[in-house]
Amino acid sequence: INVNVTDISDESGYIAALGKEAAAKAAAAWVRDEMTVGLGTGSTAYYFIQEAGAMVRAGIRLRAVVTSEATGKLAASFHIPVIPPEEAQTVDLAVDGVDAVDTDFCAVKGGGGALLREKIVAWKAKQVIWIMDESKRVKNLAGFPLPVEVLPFAASWAADAVKELGGNAVCRQRDGKSFFTDNGNRILDVVFPKDRDPRLAAEAVRQIPGVLETGFFDRMCSRILIGTTGGVRELVNPNKEKAPLQGRTVPGWKNGCV
Ligand code: A5P
Repeated sequence: INVNVTDISDESGYIAALGKEAAAKAAAAWVRDEMTVGLGTGSTAYYFIQEAGAMVRAGIRLRAVVTSEATGKLAASFHIPVIPPEEAQTVDLAVDGVDAVDTDFCAVKGGGGALLREKIVAWKAKQVIWIMDESKRVKNLAGFPLPVEVLPFAASWAADAVKELGGNAVCRQRDGKSFFTDNGNRILDVVFPKDRDPRLAAEAVRQIPGVLETGFFDRMCSRILIGTTGGVRELVNPNKEKAPLQGRTVPGWKNGCV
């Protein structure tokens, strides 16, 4: 299973891994019996999927909608029942990592190339929790590379259009080969100068024909859990509590913010 687990060969990688794991464990406090959960993609989501797997083993009934093929395989390896979107009337809770998040609850995602399904699941979910280590927190997202999913047919013209908007776009490669998403599309990694408003720039890119979605997630989370060396910090988005749920401990399961 191709999971991009944090490199723990140096101290900062080790601390980041501890932060990701602590945040993922804390997110389990919002999981309830019989929930449909949206499972994110990446090295931080990995820890949450592992935790959800342990909950399933302990008898908690969960169903999962997954945001990538890799996450689907991982969930199956932990015996978490995976269902397709058409079988999920709703997603109670989505838990995912981010590449960077600013102080206004906006995030950039898509480093792993799963942004399109991640955005669909986040949009559908009643509650969205972003889990991360401290390194993901930034003052603002200006100048931060923005992954953009684009139809292969449109990729080079869309890259030209980004240049006309004042940015720069590079078609993603992996291991020296063209990178394709699980949906068969390409990713453009787009950078705008730091003086450009990242929300407006992302919106302009989204208007280019052939662009399917950008990795700019505009305040889509309900809360953020940050694993720090001093414990897990919780930030609640005041504008996104659609159906407020109190974090609570699932009977028989030890979890929560430390
Ligand atoms: C996947 O496409 C991404 O959106 C990830 O959620 C994001 O890149 C975070 O990944 P890590 O948890 O591996 O840093």
